[in-house]
Amino acid sequence: MMPPMSSSLEPDLPSDQLLHVAIHAARQAGSVLQHCALTGFRIEHKNVINLVTDADRQAERAIVEIIHTIFPTHRILAEEQGATAQHPSRYQWIIDPLDGTTNFAHGFPAYCVSIGVECDGQGVVGVVFDPTRNELFVARAGHGAYMNGAPLSVSATDHLDRALLVTGFAYDIRETADNNLDHFARFALKAQGLRRTGTAALDLCYVAAGRFDGFWEVKLNPWDMAAGAVILSEAGGTVTDFQGRTLSIYGQELVASNGLIHPAMLDVLREDLHPRSARKPHAG
Ligand code: IPD
Ligand code: CA
Ligand code: CA
Repeated sequence: MMPPMSSSLEPDLPSDQLLHVAIHAARQAGSVLQHCALTGFRIEHKNVINLVTDADRQAERAIVEIIHTIFPTHRILAEEQGATAQHPSRYQWIIDPLDGTTNFAHGFPAYCVSIGVECDGQGVVGVVFDPTRNELFVARAGHGAYMNGAPLSVSATDHLDRALLVTGFAYDIRETADNNLDHFARFALKAQGLRRTGTAALDLCYVAAGRFDGFWEVKLNPWDMAAGAVILSEAGGTVTDFQGRTLSIYGQELVASNGLIHPAMLDVLREDLHPRSARKPHAG
């Protein structure tokens, strides 16, 4: 009997083939979301403020089925189902079927489908589809980033005073002091404006498109970042951790910018890295 094909023997796939499948899957999932938005959906609570809906699960099933049919040996890491059994594949698909679930559940039209593909641990393809505006953000490593076919590039804003920034908050915001409110307060006083859209994958794409100048978040998951990080890098942006090191989507911190304001953003974030214990006790 032949042994199973080892990952090192798995051939390189053209990234345009991966992109094509990712776009098809993202559009299918977008149709599922819009159908659910029109016809209704059930909401469950993962915790008091962390929701999951039928739409999240149905959209994810649609994406996974497409990928499994075309690339049955590839690994999948998807928000709702978790990771597939570890095949020795060089390829991993990282899926957020509905980024912006709270918005979706309230009928607030800011949400998307996010699909990233890694080969040998490197992000090679990113697709983010916003079905509410019919905006499709795509990138392949080394081939630039596009929105509905038009090339994307980051803004030229070079000072925080003129920068529109965006951030988000994790679902444990009530349970920990490491909840980003301290960074939020400082950036609010330094930036021209500060937003919280509720969809991290679109936040990254909006930095790529020059709609925002910078984005940071403290506790993201791989499926929030995988696609958007490729899109932002290919649009000429910079994406790192809070220390300015190369982003790992398996870490939690992310700072993304047009590059020009990146050092200033890192400075603001580092102000808060002074250990809390070193702060003077509150008198009184
Ligand atoms: C959330 C959104 C939000 C971000 C949270 C994420 P979900 O993802 O991206 O903007 O602030 O950290 O968990 O739960 O809507 O897929
Ligand atoms: Ca998400
Ligand atoms: Ca989600």
